[in-house]
Amino acid sequence: MTVCSVLRMGEPLLLAVADEVTAFDTLELHALIQDMEDTMAALDGAGLAAPQIGVSLRVVIFGQEEGRSENPRYPDANSVPYTVLINPKLTFLGYEQEDGLEGCLSVPGLRGIVTRYTHLHYSGFDQYGKSVERTVSDFHARVVQHECDHLDGILYPMRMTDLTTFGYTDVIFPDQSLP
Ligand code: NI
Repeated sequence: MTVCSVLRMGEPLLLAVADEVTAFDTLELHALIQDMEDTMAALDGAGLAAPQIGVSLRVVIFGQEEGRSENPRYPDANSVPYTVLINPKLTFLGYEQEDGLEGCLSVPGLRGIVTRYTHLHYSGFDQYGKSVERTVSDFHARVVQHECDHLDGILYPMRMTDLTTFGYTDVIFPDQSLP
């Protein structure tokens, strides 16, 4: 069990464009995924991108592992199956967009509203090099867009168009103890 420290906004590596993974089913790649899983689980993340733990590769994980209890930070995450997605390609389906509150382990303690595409198709590979492909909507689509943005050096505050919706989690939700 390795819980890595998560880089926080201000760290230049979070603004870098990450490299494609060129070799699958390697010890290094499996170790990276394990570190990411342990870190996401320990911090109740809805997703995590490799650059957030200092590895500039196009690897993201997201969703809820089977059998884990409800995610206190993102109850909606329970509807998203646990997924490893490497070298992802996103195709937006239609022009429909929706606003939703986002947080990020690299921007701790804060939330803000971001406009994202509602429907998209994603494809890529798992850690064994097996193809992963899905058409998704709503929260699942939002998580994928947020995580894949990390691979291009984009943090959600950079996507915000109304900074009046940016605030501290405990101020926005005073009655809940959300991390
Ligand atoms: Ni994030």
